[in-house]
Amino acid sequence: MKFVVAIDGTASSGKSTTARLLAEKLGVTYMDTGAMYRAVTYLLLEKDALESSDGLLQNLLLSSPLEFKILHRKLYVYLDGKRLSDELRTPEVDRWVSPVAERALVRAFLVAKQREIGKRRRLVCEGRDIGSVVFPDAVLKVFMTCELEERTRRRKKELTEKGIERGFEEVKLNLQKRDEIDSTRKLSPLTRTTDAFYVDTTHLTIEEQVALIEAEVRKRIVGK
Ligand code: DC
Repeated sequence: MKFVVAIDGTASSGKSTTARLLAEKLGVTYMDTGAMYRAVTYLLLEKDALESSDGLLQNLLLSSPLEFKILHRKLYVYLDGKRLSDELRTPEVDRWVSPVAERALVRAFLVAKQREIGKRRRLVCEGRDIGSVVFPDAVLKVFMTCELEERTRRRKKELTEKGIERGFEEVKLNLQKRDEIDSTRKLSPLTRTTDAFYVDTTHLTIEEQVALIEAEVRKRIVGK
């Protein structure tokens, strides 16, 4: 592992935007591991294989035309040579991604890819188990959260911007459900490690979140 800032936290707490901007400021690669779990979910939806046995799942993952590439210091996901982006953020993928992310084979497959990238690249990496499992030696571990109502507003706005209209309660329920599955699953649940820097983004702007974490990273680097 070269250099990793690990950002974990609840769904729609502002991790992605914060991690992306922080990576730009630090001049390192931004890796969104949620996109990797979403890509596997998209693949399983496409193949009608959400409930496949472990054997089938293993074959599918090993023979899958999924590729994870770093371009211009950002992770991109390709399926059959086609870059996936909006396909990863549909309500259908939202609905299925947490159950898919519970499966041991999926986690082992993706964690190996993440560590491989971490060997070659300096990273700001975000997800649910980055500081606890994937990169426990991260320079800084951040745990981000935000009140559910505010997260719902943010996620609903994000969907509207993509031309997808969903009711407030439906969006809220999805976030609540995902957090519940993500935090209570057996393997690598979302947890706030005791050494994590805690950031509640409910009343913070993106600029404030980034500045707060950047200052903390710089303190750690200088302190070494
Ligand atoms: O960050 P996100 O909302 O795009 O993540 C989608 C789902 O992927 C999330 O509900 C749980 C799963 N996930 C995970 O289990 N581990 C990670 N490191 C990242 C995401």
